[in-house]
Amino acid sequence: MKSVLITGANRGLGLGMVKYLTKHNKAENIFATCRTTSEELKNVAQEYKNLHILHLDVKNTTNYVDLSPQISKVMGTQGLNLLINNAGISTKFTKLNLVKAEQLLENLTVNTIAPIMLTKALIPLLKQAAELNKDKPVSAYRAAVINMSSVLGSIAQNDQGGFYPYRCSKAALNAATKSMSIDLKKDQILVASMHPGWVKTDMGGKNAPLDVETSVSGIFETVGKLGEADSGKFLQYDGTELPW
Ligand SMILES: NC(=O)c1ccc[n+]([C@@H]2O[C@H](COP(=O)([O-])OP(=O)(O)OC[C@H]3O[C@@H](n4cnc5c(N)ncnc54)[C@H](OP(=O)(O)O)[C@@H]3O)[C@@H](O)[C@H]2O)c1
Repeated sequence: MKSVLITGANRGLGLGMVKYLTKHNKAENIFATCRTTSEELKNVAQEYKNLHILHLDVKNTTNYVDLSPQISKVMGTQGLNLLINNAGISTKFTKLNLVKAEQLLENLTVNTIAPIMLTKALIPLLKQAAELNKDKPVSAYRAAVINMSSVLGSIAQNDQGGFYPYRCSKAALNAATKSMSIDLKKDQILVASMHPGWVKTDMGGKNAPLDVETSVSGIFETVGKLGEADSGKFLQYDGTELPW
């Protein structure tokens, strides 16, 4: 892959993805976006010159226009192969009698609106990569969007209730994945929703069974195998297909 952009790359799974891609030399250029650069991300950038840190609060959709020129400055006319909409939030205490409208709105803004609007903003670069890599089949090596979803966004697998802000925002993100896969099919751009597993991060907590490294290597192994027939699917890090 020539280029990957990952949002929310300063900690958690986003940082894990950056570390994996640099360590295993999986991408020629990596664009890591974050609100504040963590020491860990800075250290990786010092070691790997193909890691480019871009500042982005995904809530500021008006700033998205600044991204493409920064990517093109590095990539020239090669576009962007892979966009990973990873930045996300999860409001904790969200039983029906406690949930607040602001929590619903905040989760929807970061988990749903941002991935849709960022994908929209980066379509020209994704198209450029898809066009330039005509010789390759539809895949992440050509042009793809991976939306970091969650099994908590699965309506079919919801047997616990609650989590209104997070569940609704990820279910809506899944709906967006499906629409994007249909709308971008003609441009040969693959789109899929990905559940990373329950992972030990600030969001997942320390009781999570998976470590970041296991989840991330599974995610990239799965993403690397995706083809045209997988566009519009909801997949788990290990490749298992999940019900909507
Ligand atoms: N961990 C799990 O078990 C699990 C399970 C299912 C799905 N997921 C999904 O996987 C993704 C990554 O989760 P994680 O576990 O790595 O979570 P995390 O450790 O809490 O990290 C969240 C990341 O999102 C960024 N972010 C939040 N709001 C942002 C904003 N407005 N603008 C830019 N960046 C923002 C954070 O940046 P700041 O440092 O600036 O806040 C941070 O980099 C999320 O979409 C999450 O829903 C995680």
